[in-house]
Amino acid sequence: MLKDTSNNILKTKLNAVSKDLKESIKNLDSYTHVRGESLYVDDVNIRQGTFHAVVFDSPKAHGKIKHIDYSKAEALEGVIRIFTYKDIPGKNEIGGIIPDEPLFAENEVHFWGMPIALIVAETEFIARKARDLIDINIEDLPVITTAKEAKTKGSFINAPRSFSLGDTENAYKDCDFIFEGETFSNGQEHLYIEAQGAYAEPLENGNIKITSSTQGPTAVQKTVAQVLGVSMHKIEIDVTRLGGGFGGKEDQATPWAVMAALATHHLNQSVKLILNRHDDLRMTGKRHPYESSYKIGLSKDLKILAYEAEFLQNSGAAADLSPAIAERTLFHATNSYYVPNVTTKVLSCKTNLPPNTAFRGFGGPQGMFVIESAIAKAASEIGVSPRQIQEANLLDENDTFSYGQIAKQVEAKTSWNSAKNIFNIEALERDIENFNRTNKAFKKGLALMPIAFGISFTNTPMNHARALVHIYLDGSIGISTAAVEMGQGVNTKMMQIAAEVFSVPIEKTKIETTNTTRVANTSPSAASSTADLNGKATLMACNSLLERLKKVASEDLNAPEDSISLKDECVYTNGEKSKLSWTDLINKAMLKRVALTENAHYATPEIHFDKTKEKGHPFAYHVYGTAIVITTVDCTRGTYEFDSVKIVHDYGKSMSKGIDLGQVEGALAQGIGWMTMEEIAYNKDGRLLSNALSTYKIPDLFSVPKNVEVIPLETKGHELAILKSKAVGEPPLMYGIGAYFAIQNAIKAYNPNYNLKFHAPMTPEKVLMSLYQN
Ligand code: MTE
Ligand code: HPA
Ligand code: MOS
Repeated sequence: MLKDTSNNILKTKLNAVSKDLKESIKNLDSYTHVRGESLYVDDVNIRQGTFHAVVFDSPKAHGKIKHIDYSKAEALEGVIRIFTYKDIPGKNEIGGIIPDEPLFAENEVHFWGMPIALIVAETEFIARKARDLIDINIEDLPVITTAKEAKTKGSFINAPRSFSLGDTENAYKDCDFIFEGETFSNGQEHLYIEAQGAYAEPLENGNIKITSSTQGPTAVQKTVAQVLGVSMHKIEIDVTRLGGGFGGKEDQATPWAVMAALATHHLNQSVKLILNRHDDLRMTGKRHPYESSYKIGLSKDLKILAYEAEFLQNSGAAADLSPAIAERTLFHATNSYYVPNVTTKVLSCKTNLPPNTAFRGFGGPQGMFVIESAIAKAASEIGVSPRQIQEANLLDENDTFSYGQIAKQVEAKTSWNSAKNIFNIEALERDIENFNRTNKAFKKGLALMPIAFGISFTNTPMNHARALVHIYLDGSIGISTAAVEMGQGVNTKMMQIAAEVFSVPIEKTKIETTNTTRVANTSPSAASSTADLNGKATLMACNSLLERLKKVASEDLNAPEDSISLKDECVYTNGEKSKLSWTDLINKAMLKRVALTENAHYATPEIHFDKTKEKGHPFAYHVYGTAIVITTVDCTRGTYEFDSVKIVHDYGKSMSKGIDLGQVEGALAQGIGWMTMEEIAYNKDGRLLSNALSTYKIPDLFSVPKNVEVIPLETKGHELAILKSKAVGEPPLMYGIGAYFAIQNAIKAYNPNYNLKFHAPMTPEKVLMSLYQN
């Protein structure tokens, strides 16, 4: 009954919207979301007799394991078995880029929350009770929690990376102004609503199927096979959707799936492992905190002639994705500015925190925060507005990025000027000046934040995807790709593509679960590239089918192939409606034994990068935009509100305006949260203090901007973007950086003695201290 109604609701909604899907389409998942019908790992119908698992993790950040006593836990009624590294038939290794991360600790622990064992029991409750009965004795070793400390002690994940353009040393000689300083940006908790988890089921012949909440089904499959010592074809990964990933499930969904599979492998029984929120917060890595230093040199006319930055990335206790994230920091170190002389260096510092990982922006935001800080510092010292420096240095057509890519179809100046004109920046600034002149207890601040974000996995070989499209006998369409739906609306976009190519209503299309047996050897859904890569593959597969079907129609209607087109479920010849319907056409094709299935492979053309030279053309294109952030600071309390964020954003030609607007709004809120309120805290022993939502504040309805306006920049779109609709997932997060500087400007308006500090997040405590600093 329920199913029927929901389908009807979906149909009504779809019919009610205009024919133009680009204008009106919503994320189709939203209908099942609000009805509570969307399926997540915890909703999978589990088999009778399924066991439940809980992870036993390290209560110390660094130490030697002297002794563990599992006997009391094992004796508890309902406990089935406890698994440790000794039970691993293959390799105790889950590192993706560098093999430096065990699934279970062996003799040493390297972070608080590091998995040591898996307790499997009849119920989760029993497994948790058993966990409390485990006795462990760890001999303390020195704990490193900050990147600087790691650098001093020479503790690194890998060799440093460095990009350079021009001749920075000599360029400083031509500078009229040179400023140096330090910055800090803190980590960020992903706080996906669905915590990490997996459900493993034994199939015949030792094969295992795993339902996982992962952005990277192939990474899970490969790692499970490696740990179990079996080949990949024995392991099937299935993903319906994620309740959010935000990068936190690109690599870090893997261990839980591997643990569940390990238990299933030994017990030949289904095993479910879902972390509760506390376990998830403690055991998983976050956005990388960065401690950075910069040196910026400018001419009298405010041109940035030289820029140097050293980024200390707090990588945590293992590499995870840190090397790739570090690389993206360098790619985005100059944001949307052209700087002719650049030297940047990043060190991935090994500490005793949980391995930090991908988070929306993937190191880019950390890089951009530093150059925006350098500009703010320079502006304050020279006595100009930061926006004068920003504006004087915006990227132009054919400018070179520090990594050698020549900027094309640049929208840095167009988005900047549009934002200034459309929102009348002079009037906004005048209003703020007036407000600040007439108000003592409240001050307003404004900041502009331009962005330029590179689209593609920076690791060129990862930029590929495949799609498998079936047309069923009744004309309905099933699509499988590597894309993982995590709330970003990629499934809806894939359906739109098929519906558009075949000119059928979108409810005739369906996205299958993301499954490694249907689409194999995939890159994770990440780098904002999922819709581009999988969409292009889907488009190719659909177009091949269309060509085949046109041939069938041409034979049937005795008309040339190039006169055939499909429109609204009918075949047209030379624009004239024929008697042949879409379903007739499919039936004819079947009778003629024409294949109604197609598999297509897409690999982004043009991109390349040479790591030995640190030069190349790694990005298919860049996404641009400019935000104006306005805040009001309560100077008695140190609290603040965001009056408005006004954005001109480069969507290219958006294929799904509602979804893309949702991505801009969500990313903006997440960026503001990172910059202003989300404060991760570890104590010096490496224990996470901000381990609940009572101590970790994320933006809520009351703290998001009162007013968000997003104007699409008119452009012709980009050929390498799917249907010219540019990637949108990550770039707008970086508009949130403007929030930091808007607050800073409000503080300056209150306290002329305020000495600019670049230490994010700008929490109300820090604002208060700054307001009253002498
Ligand atoms: N939006 C929602 N609702 N949930 C998410 O988990 N992840 C972000 C972004 N937007 C995310 C999201 C991240 S980190 C990335 S890389 C992209 O979506 C991934 O999807 P895309 O490649 O389809 O843009
Ligand atoms: N972005 C996101 N995820 C990634 C990347 C990237 O550039 N490279 C590897 N994983
Ligand atoms: Mo997004 S950080 O590339 O998953």
